[in-house]
Amino acid sequence: MAVARPVLVSGNWKMHANHFEALKLVQELAALFRAGGVPEGREVSLHPPFTSLRTVQTAVESDHVPVALGAQNCHYEERGAFTGEVSADMLAKLNVAYVIAGHSERRTLFGESDAVVRRKVDAIVGHGMCPIVCVGESLEQRRAGQAADHVRRQVLDALSGRAPETIGRLVLAYEPIWAIGTGETASAEDAEEMCALIREEVGKLAGPEASQSVRIQYGGSVTPESAGALLSAENVDGLLVGGASLDAERFAAIVRAGA
Ligand code: 13P
Repeated sequence: MAVARPVLVSGNWKMHANHFEALKLVQELAALFRAGGVPEGREVSLHPPFTSLRTVQTAVESDHVPVALGAQNCHYEERGAFTGEVSADMLAKLNVAYVIAGHSERRTLFGESDAVVRRKVDAIVGHGMCPIVCVGESLEQRRAGQAADHVRRQVLDALSGRAPETIGRLVLAYEPIWAIGTGETASAEDAEEMCALIREEVGKLAGPEASQSVRIQYGGSVTPESAGALLSAENVDGLLVGGASLDAERFAAIVRAGA
């Protein structure tokens, strides 16, 4: 049974856009989406830095911009002596809908382990938000023929032991580390192969319904030029966009690519 999965195009602003710049960017996007709309069957989420969340939330809600609010990270504890951290509860109170968990920059630059990513997913789901769980191999792993095993293991570590209904509502993002910020986009064929493998792994873990409804994004140097082919791949249900999401025209073009 084929399930229609709404495409999710997410803009991960990373450590860009203070709240003045964030307001400008969201207003530019609002104008573009007012003029051209977001295509039927597509959703958009914006993931500004924590300090710009409230500004983006206010702009989106007051102008009825058709985008969901997203965050880039959170801590797994409810509250406590965790200097510099932000809890899932704090994000939920800002009407955040999507939270990225286990981005490769968090894993490699900030030492986030699979166990930590798993606890973050628990916290995000526990607060009624949707995690975007990132997985992906390094160039060395790809060259050594270990990409599939590595990604399968990351999926297992983040998802095993969860109810199939929970898993079916999640978003996973396949972001090969060698494609992030390098200008080297994975081909639509490579992205499709890995996203299909991730869906197969979800099927083994949680059954056919969950594997049909889980959404799998591709991320890594996505551009308006590459977005259409990527989105037309059967198992690619969306895009997680870094650099190109900081330019309103380019991001709006990605949102509309191939629609
Ligand atoms: P770029 O699109 O800048 O390669 O970043 C991808 C990414 O890491 C999105 O989370």
